[in-house]
Amino acid sequence: MEISSLSPFKTDTIIEPFRIRSVEPIRFTTMEEREQLLKEAGYNPFLLKAKDVVIDLLTDSGTGAMSSKQWAGMLESDESYAGSSSFYKLESAVQDITGFKHLIPTHQGRAAENIFFTTIAKKGDVIPSNTHFDTTRAHVEHAGAEARDLVIDKGKQPQSDHAFKGNMNLEKLQDTIREVGSEDIPVIMITVTNNSGGGQPVSMANIKGVSEIAHKHNIPFFIDACRFAENAWFIKTREDAFADKKPIEIAQEMFSYADGCTMSAKKDGMANIGGFLALNSDELASECRNLEILTEGFPTYGGMAGYDMEAVAQGLYEALDPDYLRYRIRSISYLGDKLTEAGIPIVQPTGGHAVYLDAKQILSHIPPTEYPAWSFNNALYLLGGIRGVEIGTVMFGKQPDGSEKPAAMELVRLAFPRRMYTQSHVDYLAEVIISAYEQRKKLEGYKIVDSPDVLRHFSARLKPIKGS
Ligand code: F0G
Repeated sequence: MEISSLSPFKTDTIIEPFRIRSVEPIRFTTMEEREQLLKEAGYNPFLLKAKDVVIDLLTDSGTGAMSSKQWAGMLESDESYAGSSSFYKLESAVQDITGFKHLIPTHQGRAAENIFFTTIAKKGDVIPSNTHFDTTRAHVEHAGAEARDLVIDKGKQPQSDHAFKGNMNLEKLQDTIREVGSEDIPVIMITVTNNSGGGQPVSMANIKGVSEIAHKHNIPFFIDACRFAENAWFIKTREDAFADKKPIEIAQEMFSYADGCTMSAKKDGMANIGGFLALNSDELASECRNLEILTEGFPTYGGMAGYDMEAVAQGLYEALDPDYLRYRIRSISYLGDKLTEAGIPIVQPTGGHAVYLDAKQILSHIPPTEYPAWSFNNALYLLGGIRGVEIGTVMFGKQPDGSEKPAAMELVRLAFPRRMYTQSHVDYLAEVIISAYEQRKKLEGYKIVDSPDVLRHFSARLKPIKGS
């Protein structure tokens, strides 16, 4: 038989674009064990031990698998205090992808935020964004400024249909500038993808629009770039004119409209730790470096070891590989499709790094003040050992004055670590979620029994209301 006599093999199946060479065993637990473990953890999944979790979707941050090239780079790292060649390698990767002149490495994203907001924000300022992530909001508020979310209305409606639900409402941005005055807006931010709003992307047109408005008023424009590569893929697949562009070209254009970015390399840096602030202004960079030396380290390592900088320098390019991005975004929509087929309300369309379950609809019998998303997330742990995270009133409800206000959405985020789980893990996930959904009427609300003042979701202890 001649090879040429065969019809070419065609498939729509997207397979994991890697082989697995190092594995980590999963420990299985029974439902009785998990009931006890959750109780001991104050019904807060953040306080569970990772070994007691079967599939850990708490976060996609720092949890992914690194490539053999990243590990190889780590062995070749330069751990010099000053002028490390690993720094220059990272600097060249960041400059290539973002075009920004100055690189300020930090140990993770929030350290970049700390340096940035402490330097630029003061009491009474307002900092608009599509939606500030919780650490970003906390740093803005810590500096005495107001973090204002201006995402488009559809971005707040889980079921609404829009290709770029992370977009900022440009009219509201202009109204805010008119109301506050540009002198009290030290920066305009945009988070790509919009993590707190469902991992939804921001279009190139919107990034350009925000940039034009910011620059018209002489306000710097910065990108919270944690998931810039995933955002670039959505632009490629959903925005006319970008279909034939490479993800790296799209990323370069996204950054070209901004004056700088904050970055957690634990996401699209494909590393377990690391981050940076990158920016164009010489003056601001020098002010930020002073604070970097005080809080992170010497400017050519910041908060990172040389080997971390190597892993990030390589990881930033791997995150932009089209085969990887195709698989990455498909693995999220694969779960989303299964849940949608089963009638389970999720944030539509699925975002870049996570599936977000709409607990307000699923548990309509539990009011937001009794934390429905928290309750559904705990049910997933009890039934199948799955750990997600509540993005709802426990995370966002507490106001700076101490009062409590229901969050805009009650979501359970199931965030996928990069290159970690396979399709059969996802099939199992779907089965557990469907089982929890079928038993939803049996689920009850929670109350907080003990919580810190800021970022309470990380360490609060709760109790089921009926059991208390
Ligand atoms: N900005 C966004 C949009 C984020 O998602 C995160 C972290 C940060 C900033 C802060 O970065 O963790 O390196 O300090 N998000 C993680 C998450 C924690 O689970 O979504 P970091």
